[in-house]
Amino acid sequence: MRTDRTFTMLKPDSVEKGHVGAILEKITASGFRIVAMKLTQMTTADAKEFYAIHKERPFFGELVEYMTRGPIVAAILEKDNAVEDFRTLIGATNPADAAEGTIRKMYAASIGENAVHGSDSDENAAIEGAFHFAGREMF
Ligand code: RTP
Ligand code: MG
Repeated sequence: MRTDRTFTMLKPDSVEKGHVGAILEKITASGFRIVAMKLTQMTTADAKEFYAIHKERPFFGELVEYMTRGPIVAAILEKDNAVEDFRTLIGATNPADAAEGTIRKMYAASIGENAVHGSDSDENAAIEGAFHFAGREMF
């Protein structure tokens, strides 16, 4: 995947609360183009693999439960400097620390249930995009 792309998930809490439309509007209004997108649900095995980097952390079990409890919106987004700019748009992991106007400040309930995922590097954006999408699903 190209380095001007990032990968996001609107997590189960965003879908449950009906925030998908508002969050997508904010993403596209911020200059990101949607390259790929779908409503999908991760299995336990999917979530354990996707978040494997956190497997020794005390919150890993809760994270897997949360991320598998309902559908998510997975998407690949394109913009210059996509990874860094998208992390700025979503805000800090803990919404209590997130800047005003960020997606997590506006829509996240807690550090555990924080509305949205954003890749943390170009390398992980490519891995995560390929985890969820086949090449023919990317535009
Ligand atoms: P993400 O990967 O989802 O974009 O989030 P992030 O980079 O901001 O945060 P990361 O450290 O990668 O943590 C991944 C997700 O694990 C949950 N978490 N819970 N209870 C806790 O202390 C805790 N810490 C992290 C969150 O859902 C976080 O987004
Ligand atoms: Mg992360």
